[in-house]
Amino acid sequence: MRIDIISLFPEFVAQCAGFGVVGRAQERGLLSIHGWNPRDHAEGNYRRVDDRPFGGGPGMVMLIDPLRAAIQAARQADPAPARVVYLSPQGRPLTQPIVRELAGRARLILLCGRYEGVDERLVQAEVDEELSIGDYVLSGGELAAAVVVDAVARLQDGALNDADSAAQDSFEDGLLDCPHYTRPVTHPLGDVPEVLLSGNHAEIARWRRLQSLQRTLARRPDLLAAAGLTPAERAWLAAQPAADPADPDGPAGPGPGVPAIMRG
Ligand code: ADE
Repeated sequence: MRIDIISLFPEFVAQCAGFGVVGRAQERGLLSIHGWNPRDHAEGNYRRVDDRPFGGGPGMVMLIDPLRAAIQAARQADPAPARVVYLSPQGRPLTQPIVRELAGRARLILLCGRYEGVDERLVQAEVDEELSIGDYVLSGGELAAAVVVDAVARLQDGALNDADSAAQDSFEDGLLDCPHYTRPVTHPLGDVPEVLLSGNHAEIARWRRLQSLQRTLARRPDLLAAAGLTPAERAWLAAQPAADPADPDGPAGPGPGVPAIMRG
């Protein structure tokens, strides 16, 4: 997969992508990242890339032409068609299904805005999709682009050493991940749950599934409607008391004992 970054600070995203799984994906030839600076495509002595907004107001707006030229240069660098994604707080919220969809493409061009944003005509003409990484405002799209690069890179075949670990991540089945434990078994902060030491793989899988369900119910009940649940799990959920919004990790969820859906 090839990802082109259009940014006033393209090396920022490239550096973020140099570590860990994403760095390894590049070393393995699964992913290549290329930066394009609109300033290199700007005219005049000052190589201006922004101007004041029509209608007044604070801040500056990025000019159409330097961005457009940078996008065109990126498109022409490779014959495969590219999807152009603009990172902005006005975009569709990024989710794991969107990440999966992007990860299956041969090419992405990620457009990073600065200042108040980019001229809307450029967005209308060149952008296929506007994505947000959350309901907060960053000083530019670069960190958001780095998030997209990371999430997409780890889904490339061969990027992860343990092929299973992507499939078991939070959100891959629409639920939050279960808790994880490693050595030592006993510690002043608590003991590892016994079931994980049992060697009974079916039992462990059931325990993990229940933990995922309970956590999702307590912390992100909004995810449950779209999660892939069995009829028995749905019935179990319907029987749970509502979470206390003041104490989302509190006692809401299953009462004592093992719920029927978790018995073998
Ligand atoms: N640029 C600035 N804030 C952003 C956000 N929340 N998501 C994506 N791009 C952004």
